[in-house]
Amino acid sequence: EKGGWDSFMDKEIHEEPHAVADTLLGRFDLEGRLNLDEVRIDEEIFRSIDKIIVIACGTAAYAGMVAKYAIEHWVRIPVEVELAHEFRYRDPILTSRTLVVAISQSGETMDTLMALRHAREQGSRVLAICNTQGSTIPRESDAVLYTHAGPEIAVASTKAFVAQITAAYLIGLYLAQVKGAMYRDEIRGILDELRAMPDKIQRVIDTQSQTIEAAATKMINAQSFLFLGRHVGYPVAMEGALKLKEIAYTFTEGFAAGELKHGPIALVDEGEPVVVIVPPARGRNILHSKVISAIEEVRARGAYTIAVAEEGDDDVRDYADVVFWRPQCPTLMSPLVDVIPMQLFAMDMAKLKGLDVDKPRNLAKSVTVE
Ligand code: F6R
Repeated sequence: EKGGWDSFMDKEIHEEPHAVADTLLGRFDLEGRLNLDEVRIDEEIFRSIDKIIVIACGTAAYAGMVAKYAIEHWVRIPVEVELAHEFRYRDPILTSRTLVVAISQSGETMDTLMALRHAREQGSRVLAICNTQGSTIPRESDAVLYTHAGPEIAVASTKAFVAQITAAYLIGLYLAQVKGAMYRDEIRGILDELRAMPDKIQRVIDTQSQTIEAAATKMINAQSFLFLGRHVGYPVAMEGALKLKEIAYTFTEGFAAGELKHGPIALVDEGEPVVVIVPPARGRNILHSKVISAIEEVRARGAYTIAVAEEGDDDVRDYADVVFWRPQCPTLMSPLVDVIPMQLFAMDMAKLKGLDVDKPRNLAKSVTVE
């Protein structure tokens, strides 16, 4: 069943270009007009939405955090992202104009299910983003947009994450279309960018796997890792940290690069590995120089720095001990490629430690208890 791969995780990482491409398939036409009729919520209702709340757990919640940056920018309505178990028990503000987006690979996560039931009881509409046909979460939601990542067997989520971001972006663009928040050309331009991502993901896999494995071999005895990023790189850093703790059992912390001086930098000592997601350099991106200075700061305190950066980003070379390169792409698309080295690195670390990458201890593929 593993089709020649060492592990399901390996196989599923290699399926990521398809996961994104298949999730886009048939959902818009060449003029850039989205068609989400399958979602079966009236356009009129979508038009009335004035707030989105994403509820999810773990990796799915990080996909939601990425989507927040994009949807707020495109649609100009507030998007909150909340861990489903926290949301359910704090009396959240929900109205009939709130769209609750429940993201779940398995469709069986009890925390997410309880949260969506609560949202529906309060009169909000729930749209599920789910990878499993006919599972409980889509059945209990008002509507569903399926991710077409194919079955995910490895406990650590990989291809579902990129498919979830893709699906959430489609919902964002659809809202922008029905609300008239963007011109058709702009939407079409973003859809073109999305369509270009599967090849870019493939390129990361093809060109970076060896460097990543070599880095993992070198870091095999590290006791802990820090991951940092900014903007959409922040949830990617959190996701990278989660992967490494789940399957390699390494203490990790992911945080926003801007927080460094507010505390976490105290952790940095001689040889501490720090993984940094570097935003695109082009267009004199202010965030780029801020993240570069974060690398300088941790390096000055002895950190061993691993950067994920854009091809052609020469500034990074001077500051990072190791660089995993990604093809150039717009900032909002970058999580789809930046997460790949994070997943491969965690998988290599776990394999080198002789661990079962598909079935990490203490974890189950779907968490069906609250
Ligand atoms: C991480 C992971 C978990 C799940 C979380 C939600 O690799 O697998 O964090 O992402 O349990 O699961 P779903 O998406 O099935 O609701």
